[in-house]
Amino acid sequence: MAKADQIKALIRSHAEGDNDRFYAIALQVAAQAARNGHGKFANELRELVDKAKAKSSAVVQQKGIKPIPVAQPRGELAGLLSVFYPKTRLTDMALDEGLRARVERVLREQRQAGRIREHGFSPIRKMLLIGPPGTGKTMTASAMAGELGLPLFTIQLDGLITKYMGETAAKLRLVFDAIESTRGVYLFDEFDALGSERGAKNDVGEIRRVLNSFLVFLEQDESSSLVIGATNHVNLLDRALFRRFDVVMEYALPAKDVALRVMKGRLGLMDTSDVDWGLASKATELLSHGEIVRACEQAAKQAILEHRTKISSEDILSSLVERRQINKR
Ligand SMILES: Nc1ncnc2c1ncn2[C@@H]1O[C@H](COP(=O)(O)OP(=O)(O)OP(=O)(O)O)[C@@H](O)[C@H]1O
Ligand SMILES: [Mg+2]
Repeated sequence: MAKADQIKALIRSHAEGDNDRFYAIALQVAAQAARNGHGKFANELRELVDKAKAKSSAVVQQKGIKPIPVAQPRGELAGLLSVFYPKTRLTDMALDEGLRARVERVLREQRQAGRIREHGFSPIRKMLLIGPPGTGKTMTASAMAGELGLPLFTIQLDGLITKYMGETAAKLRLVFDAIESTRGVYLFDEFDALGSERGAKNDVGEIRRVLNSFLVFLEQDESSSLVIGATNHVNLLDRALFRRFDVVMEYALPAKDVALRVMKGRLGLMDTSDVDWGLASKATELLSHGEIVRACEQAAKQAILEHRTKISSEDILSSLVERRQINKR
């Protein structure tokens, strides 16, 4: 059986996203089990490791690339960017096949960026993510940074525009300088602030100016950073923006099978053997990934507070219904 320090090391390597180490420890446990006469367990463990490795090989992190420590932006940049190293991985996300393939495509091109550039091409770097709230746009940006071992810089455009009325274009210049000098994933969240009526109500001239400078900066940007715009108001966006991005990814409310994976993912640590998953996934209709996650969390906490070890279909159904009612308000 695994020793206490092996279990601790497994958890530590998982938390650090160090897959190689995680599998190495699991194989150590298998070898030890085999030596102690637990051959069946050892074989099962090895098979599990092999399967997990095969599954994650498409998204495996490039060897030898270690995150570079980044200092929090200082001086003028401090109010413009926030930064951290996300631990999110693609395997944490329930995506439909189309979206997963596109995200993996970007990751593959990024990992092989050197080879692509040697042949005179550029890897995909500029992405526009559009879709309703809570469908995984921000999470995708985190997962991309997590997979590539890059820092995630977030630029809240809404804040940028209201805070620096009149000097937003100059501030944007600073952000694009940072994109050039520090490789990372740069997420322009609430991207609609640049093209929306909401913004237009405030100051049409200012929004236009900012939009124009953004387009110019984006066009000129030839850095090795990833630039991601995320918005849920696609209709409000200036069409000119679309052309500047290498890919546009559309997010939608989850289909039943994706919703099911979201629920199982969030409730992975709970005993769900009594749950009727068919019923539960039907009840997720009209809910976003984010709302489904919240409903699952509520259901799990309900069971915990009532000292029950098992979570029931009723727990899940009632919190999903409650979420739907919140939506109707
Ligand atoms: N594909 C997914 N798989 C699993 N969980 C997801 C997925 N998408 C979203 N979630 C859950 O929903 C939460 C909200 O998602 P996220 O913040 O990425 O939404 P968003 O599309 O950026 O929404 P908004 O437009 O409001 O910014 C996440 O923190 C995560 O818990
Ligand atoms: Mg978001």
